[in-house]
Amino acid sequence: MAGRAAAKVPIARVGQALSRVGTPALVLDLDAFDQNARSLVHQMQVFEKRGPNGKTVALRPHAKAHKCSALALRQMDLLGSAAVGLGCQTLAEAEILASAGLKDLTITNEVVPIDKVQRLAKLAKTEGLALGVCVDSAVNVRQISKELQAVGATIKVLVECNVGQNRCGVETAEEAVELAKVVKAFDGVLDFDGYQAYHGAIQHVRGEAERSAECRKVAEKVVAINAAFDTAGIKCNTVTGGGTGTFLFDAGSGLYTEVQPGSYFFGDVDYGKNDWGRSKGWTQSLLVAATVISRNPSRRTVVVDAGLKAVDLGSGPPLVLGEEQWSFANGGDEHGVVTVPEGDLPEVGERMYLIPSHVDPTFNMHRQLVCVRGEVVEDVLEIDASGPGF
Ligand SMILES: Cc1ncc(COP(=O)(O)O)c(C=O)c1O
Repeated sequence: MAGRAAAKVPIARVGQALSRVGTPALVLDLDAFDQNARSLVHQMQVFEKRGPNGKTVALRPHAKAHKCSALALRQMDLLGSAAVGLGCQTLAEAEILASAGLKDLTITNEVVPIDKVQRLAKLAKTEGLALGVCVDSAVNVRQISKELQAVGATIKVLVECNVGQNRCGVETAEEAVELAKVVKAFDGVLDFDGYQAYHGAIQHVRGEAERSAECRKVAEKVVAINAAFDTAGIKCNTVTGGGTGTFLFDAGSGLYTEVQPGSYFFGDVDYGKNDWGRSKGWTQSLLVAATVISRNPSRRTVVVDAGLKAVDLGSGPPLVLGEEQWSFANGGDEHGVVTVPEGDLPEVGERMYLIPSHVDPTFNMHRQLVCVRGEVVEDVLEIDASGPGF
């Protein structure tokens, strides 16, 4: 509880200059974020993405990227009718987004064990909320139906299919159909909605042609799953998948009804390494502001106040905005060591802005998001669903 209270200490005030914001701070450039949202809609329109039902493929931005309900509301406003709702990866994300008033949420993950299933059932009772959840086992389906029956609620259920990531999901098209039949046995409580075919591991295949080829392999599996459902006479309203690296290919396959890009709104170093060909539409909107706290001219390094607790290093080091030659190295929990190979070394107290290497874990380290327009703070948002997920 003490930790939560500390989050109430604001690191920035509305109207303040960006240069005065406390560091390390997670900063969102609102002009770039808004532009990314417009670009997403535009790209879906330009490439005329139509799903298997003949309708335009819908956007379901993934809220796991930011875990911030205020930002989720903003996304829905910006995307308008192009978006059906949001994706969540944890039950807590869904609970927090629902309590903020978001009306259409799909948990793109399995909800286990029983205490969580009970929370899921309670959430499903929320007035006006369209809630979906993924399943990949009959035991989980039975638990969900039992707990929903107990509270008198219904939920949309999607069978998760393993289309190559070897994470969750049933292995074969036949297993998908069998599990759908288990779901359908609880008609009236469980509303079988379709399936998820998401392959996270191919989002960062660098070459556009190679990524497209990987998406075609996924598409072949989706075709087989569709054929099995057709044979069984089971209709799938929803086929969902597609992250930032693949959504245009997935949507373009004509096999998906919705796609789930999350990082697209923010950008990071890792996605920056992909070859985007004709389809890159995002500009970097997310930065970590840091301050030089020490300098060492003989080593040509400066130390900034952003370390392991402010930027994720799992996908490599962040870059320094506007300084391609500078390199960031891990200096520990609260320190980053920046090497400046030539030119003037920044002074103690100077600012720099880091481009995170991976959006999601970086958001998860912060509790407040400083939203700026130009050089001025427009809003400070609570990252209210941060944490590993419970
Ligand atoms: C199921 C699912 N959908 C969508 C996404 C969004 O991916 P990205 O942030 O790369 O767009 C993720 C990310 O891990 C995911 O796990």
